[in-house]
Amino acid sequence: MSGESDLTWAEVRRAAAQQLAVGTSANPEQEARWIVEEVSGVRGADLVGVELEAATAMGTQRVAAMVARRLAGEPLQYVLGAWSFRGIDLFVDPRVLIPRPETELTAQLAIDEAVRLGARRGRRAPFSGTEAACVVADLGTGSGAVALALASELPDAEVWATDVSADALAVARANFAGAGSIAARVRVGEGNWFAALPAALRGGLRVVVSNPPYVAEPEFADLGPEVAAFEPRGALVSGSTGLESITRIVADAPVWLEPRGALVIELDPRRAEPAVQLALDAGFAEVRVLPDLAGHARVLVARLG
Ligand SMILES: C[S@@+](CC[C@H](N)C(=O)[O-])C[C@H]1O[C@@H](n2cnc3c(N)ncnc32)[C@H](O)[C@@H]1O
Repeated sequence: MSGESDLTWAEVRRAAAQQLAVGTSANPEQEARWIVEEVSGVRGADLVGVELEAATAMGTQRVAAMVARRLAGEPLQYVLGAWSFRGIDLFVDPRVLIPRPETELTAQLAIDEAVRLGARRGRRAPFSGTEAACVVADLGTGSGAVALALASELPDAEVWATDVSADALAVARANFAGAGSIAARVRVGEGNWFAALPAALRGGLRVVVSNPPYVAEPEFADLGPEVAAFEPRGALVSGSTGLESITRIVADAPVWLEPRGALVIELDPRRAEPAVQLALDAGFAEVRVLPDLAGHARVLVARLG
């Protein structure tokens, strides 16, 4: 049997776009392009040159299978098995939350806090010493997106990535393995929030960042079918009020942070005010909530000392 199909990659892409247009996709042309890029292994402008060549038979079958999954409502990121976060290519599947654009801001604010407290900034700059200059932690790392952004943009930091879900940590580990030398400074801990960290880190974390579950049980049904049916419930739902995870992290953070350390937490805009109060009650001296790109109160930044 020949390895080539009767169709060119361009024809495969156009057929995929037509099929996707019948489903719920808001952008069938773009989604078809991403699927063909993923399957052909050829991206961006390079695809233009390759598109007139015959597609492989296996590639055509893979595109058809991915289009069928998409038409069944599965999020595009899981269908592709890949997504980008602050310029880092990540593997994602339904064991982890798909990293959201607002979490890029959360990571940015955590990096800014570490730099304000003396860490060196530098995207993929080489590690400058033999010992990490500071230690930061990403609690509830999921795909490892935030931890990898920290490791990539804080070249002298040791980064702890934790999660209570062994499944999520399997995905995070795959992403760390694929990230090259920056992942040499990433450590992994499994467990409930701070309990995943070695006791020796108490009082030694410069920055703690977390995008914890912050959906209240009764709100789960409002999340939309793609989210509710495919993304891990334990990554989304916190408890009956949506504040449970944040309450735990905020209360425990002061004993784990350096005396002037900072906590950065993503939250639901509707719970910004109680979260600020929790941070003040826990002893943080300076507490702010910053807006995301849509203008919604989204990230709590709380500083000790
Ligand atoms: C909203 S997801 C965030 C994932 C990733 N950090 C991101 O921003 O894309 C929340 C993560 O917290 C983890 N998680 C939930 N409860 C936890 C707990 N008690 N301790 C540690 N991690 C927890 C979930 O497994 C999930 O990976």
